[in-house]
Amino acid sequence: MLKLPGLIDPHVHLREPGQTHKEDWDSGTSAALAGGVTMVLAMPNTKPPICDESTLDLVLASAKAKARCDYAQFLGAGPDNVDWDKYAGLPHRAAGLKMYLDSTFGELRLDDMTLWQSHFQNWPKGLPIVAHSESRSMAAVILMAAIYDRPVHIAHISLKEEVLLIKAAKERGIKVTCEVCPHHLFLTSPLPSGEGPGVRANGRLEVRPRLATQADVDALWANLDVIDCFATDHAPHTLAEKDGENPPPGFPGVETLLPLLLTAVAEGRLTINHIIQKSVINPQKIFNLPVQSEIWVEVDEKAAYELRAADMHSRCGWTPFEGWQVKGRVTRVVLRGREAFKDGKILVEPGYGKNVREK
Ligand code: NCD
Ligand code: ZN
Repeated sequence: MLKLPGLIDPHVHLREPGQTHKEDWDSGTSAALAGGVTMVLAMPNTKPPICDESTLDLVLASAKAKARCDYAQFLGAGPDNVDWDKYAGLPHRAAGLKMYLDSTFGELRLDDMTLWQSHFQNWPKGLPIVAHSESRSMAAVILMAAIYDRPVHIAHISLKEEVLLIKAAKERGIKVTCEVCPHHLFLTSPLPSGEGPGVRANGRLEVRPRLATQADVDALWANLDVIDCFATDHAPHTLAEKDGENPPPGFPGVETLLPLLLTAVAEGRLTINHIIQKSVINPQKIFNLPVQSEIWVEVDEKAAYELRAADMHSRCGWTPFEGWQVKGRVTRVVLRGREAFKDGKILVEPGYGKNVREK
């Protein structure tokens, strides 16, 4: 039996308020616990999006009533909420500020670069900013971090050019950190360009950033030292939606993260220490998260089995890793002294999860 600290997933979409047929605070945090994740940072692209005090109150009320693991909630950067100094105390109640600067699901995308700049200037300096920025917009965001001399965390990097630019920026002392998702480490696009009719025809392959080429995947593995965190970007949509017209982008991920990483450990591509650094220690530092006691995950390292959505807790009902052979099963999770998960069963009630930004 292997004992790990509880994992932190800094990037999940829990779909409540507004789209609870995909997921809610109960099903999403149950899925997290089953995956060995004891703390999630929830994204703001819900319906309505979380951009001000009333929407933050709304989402935190659902979370308080329903979350089974610990959490914090991001605020979204919009066109109308750049004056962060006017929202006394609000930023401190959030996990951080999320800026959507590229193709995404929902209405939070910001195209006007002067708005990016205003958010960079006005969001309190000691609090995290996470940018969904790909390729050239990532380069622009890193420039803003340098100009305003403040940290920025780049969400879900997927390309060779991204990991190489972040490496160069870090070498220059720019305060940039980044995360990578399991699907960008373990899956490639069926088409070399990462785009095209083949990809669009299959909604189950739709995700933002898109799946990339083998050369991109190889570059991520070759530069693991540059990558600060593993994050799932758990983005559940139902199978009917994925297989229907205009499939929304996104993959579920919290329940497959640890089995996939442990399988890579068994194959000698990763170490347990990598998992602890990138799924516990670095997220704690980057997002100023409390180091809590009596939180751990027990894993049967030898268990070999097949990933099956039917065994999972997410409401979306599918996984891009269906049928994958993995090695390493989460058998038990202890959260703040209580047995929260054991042998496939969730043992803590809705509302047991704590908002780690609440004093
Ligand atoms: C995310 C979602 O569905 O909310 N989808 C995705 O493909 N990653 C949105 C996002 O993170 O951009
Ligand atoms: Zn996301």
